[in-house]
Amino acid sequence: MTNPIQDKHIVLGVTGSIAAYKAADLASKLTQAGGLVDVILTEAAARFVSPLTFQSVTGRKAYVDADLWGAEGHVQHIGLARQADLMLIAPASANTLARLAHGLADNLLTLTALAANCPLLVAPAMDGGMYDHPATQANLDLLRAREVVLIGPAEGHLASGLSGKGRMVEPGALFGAVRLELGRGGPLAGRKVIVTAGGTQEAIDPVRVIANRSSGKQGFALAQAALDLGAGVILISGPVGLETPAGAQRVEVESAQQMLEAVMAALPAAEALIMAAAVADFQPVSAAGQKIKREQGVPEIRLERTPDILRQVALQKERSGWPRLTVGFAAETQGLLENARHKLISKKLDLIAANDILAQDAGFSVDTNRVTLLYPDGQTETLPLMTKNEVAEAILLRIIDLLEKGSEHPPHSSDVP
Ligand code: CTP
Repeated sequence: MTNPIQDKHIVLGVTGSIAAYKAADLASKLTQAGGLVDVILTEAAARFVSPLTFQSVTGRKAYVDADLWGAEGHVQHIGLARQADLMLIAPASANTLARLAHGLADNLLTLTALAANCPLLVAPAMDGGMYDHPATQANLDLLRAREVVLIGPAEGHLASGLSGKGRMVEPGALFGAVRLELGRGGPLAGRKVIVTAGGTQEAIDPVRVIANRSSGKQGFALAQAALDLGAGVILISGPVGLETPAGAQRVEVESAQQMLEAVMAALPAAEALIMAAAVADFQPVSAAGQKIKREQGVPEIRLERTPDILRQVALQKERSGWPRLTVGFAAETQGLLENARHKLISKKLDLIAANDILAQDAGFSVDTNRVTLLYPDGQTETLPLMTKNEVAEAILLRIIDLLEKGSEHPPHSSDVP
């Protein structure tokens, strides 16, 4: 399992802000991802949302200040702090930020924060004026200097009716930040992985393009799996409406030529390039400068080949040693394994994932995939029907193995262009 949230102890601190109701959604998301979520509410937070709400979504006790004085009172905060893998305070009010910044420990949450020795993430939420106040800004500077991870606040509608900076970042993005933080120490920590995703679009005129059916889902799942294992990820994507996995550096491209340029620019010092994108093979020789009008008659569109990105990467690798591993995908409608093997050899890949896109449960837009992995030494490995997330995880684990095997002869640092 690469899911870094699984079985992790997460302390979720909730403070007195109207955004407290959104923290219940966050607690639910973290729990569904396998996290063991201990919620601590401040007295003000418990006025906005009941501890029972949190208990109901986490299946665990939600703590309030009264627990400080219960049977285990004198050690409650130490227990919660010691077992925590990560602590997140969301929403964090201006008052709690000030207490954290100055080391005050006058409630169960701030006591626990002071006793904890794990990463601390804080999502401020308050009115714009309070956020802009020099006192709050100075407190945030203190927290930043202590390597507290500050997430947001976002801009937009505030409870006061005004609009400005002070909204808590949405639960989905906070979930992403927790996942990113917990994945940091993984086996790919400190390594760069490039993933391409989605289909490219080749312009016919300013309105029309030649596109393909790629949804980008497999590529985005690969980017997420690489992040979960600690990699630094550059995600080069064609036009798809998918959210960027938290922590990935996304580069948006349209055409095959733009994707080639983005890949080449990202290559230096990359451990692996995973080409999951469905790159167009042909592009119009020239795109019309103006919209082609119906009255002009049926146009004849002359096509030419696009650059083969993986072939160019193979040439670059011969010169520089980067990327250390190149992984391709072969989407086929016939002759699956023969065609995939041919691509593996001709594009000088270390691994190719072949899938039959005519199978109902595999290929474009569906969430599952049926993939066979082929290696240059002739080995093949057929994976069962899996979700695209599981396929991504399996491929990343193979990449780690291959990197480890090859690490006896790492490229010389002077080879880095
Ligand atoms: N690819 C690439 N540059 C291209 C076309 C494809 O780098 N211009 C990559 C894809 O990202 C994929 C692999 O090559 O990882 C195989 O892509 P595919 O479209 O299956 O193969 P083609 O070489 O384009 O051959 P064909 O379309 O004729 O099957």
